[in-house]
Amino acid sequence: MTGLFVVFEGGDGVGKSTQAALLADALAADGREVVRTFEPGDTPAGARIRQLLLDPSSAPLSPWAEALLYAADKANHIRDVVAPALARGAAVVCDRYIDSMLAYQGAGRVLDMAQVEQVARWATGGLLPDLTVLLDLDPALAVAEIGDKDRLEAESADFHQRVREHFLALAARDPGRYLVLPARLPRDELAAAVAERVSAARGRLST
Ligand SMILES: Nc1ncnc2c1ncn2[C@@H]1O[C@H](COP(=O)(O)OP(=O)(O)OP(=O)(O)O)[C@@H](O)[C@H]1O
Ligand SMILES: [Mg+2]
Repeated sequence: MTGLFVVFEGGDGVGKSTQAALLADALAADGREVVRTFEPGDTPAGARIRQLLLDPSSAPLSPWAEALLYAADKANHIRDVVAPALARGAAVVCDRYIDSMLAYQGAGRVLDMAQVEQVARWATGGLLPDLTVLLDLDPALAVAEIGDKDRLEAESADFHQRVREHFLALAARDPGRYLVLPARLPRDELAAAVAERVSAARGRLST
């Protein structure tokens, strides 16, 4: 049996964790091993990297230092969590992955996108999700709702606008691997659309 790798992407507070949990529950109810995970921070070293990256009280980072710390988290996370789970045939449901690094560090911080893509590919060994669900929302609506903001959430409206546009551009570039949904549809409606698309992806993978 082959594993299934599904990633939820989108801006801050759009509902990624909510939908990741609903999909994980649906897959588990099907009797499948599900590994629910997230980036950055879901390994012991990753948790420390996450603190450096997001804790508002950590020392300031250069944009490239930030990008490389995200890459370091990914290298560890793929080796220790994602790849072993996929090798066992599990379904991996992951909150954020490469696209977040491209959108936040590449487009948000305005780094050379080709270089950021290269670093991300290098860190992950080129592992791509079977399906990426992009929850799309105007950042003016989403970020404003967040109370205690982490370092990236506290960035400017322009920054978050660039992030949103880059997520959409990535999805448009490879529509077969993406499902783009308006993030403020009712939760159950979103979950049903995700479940339908995931079962189509599973059918494709098992043939
Ligand atoms: N479809 C929806 N419609 C309206 N509100 C929603 C929807 N889904 C989730 N929410 C609410 O939006 C808020 C953020 O949800 P959630 O934590 O799942 O988002 P997230 O993308 O994981 O956020 P973060 O980037 O902070 O991890 C929560 O208050 C949640 O209840
Ligand atoms: Mg979340």
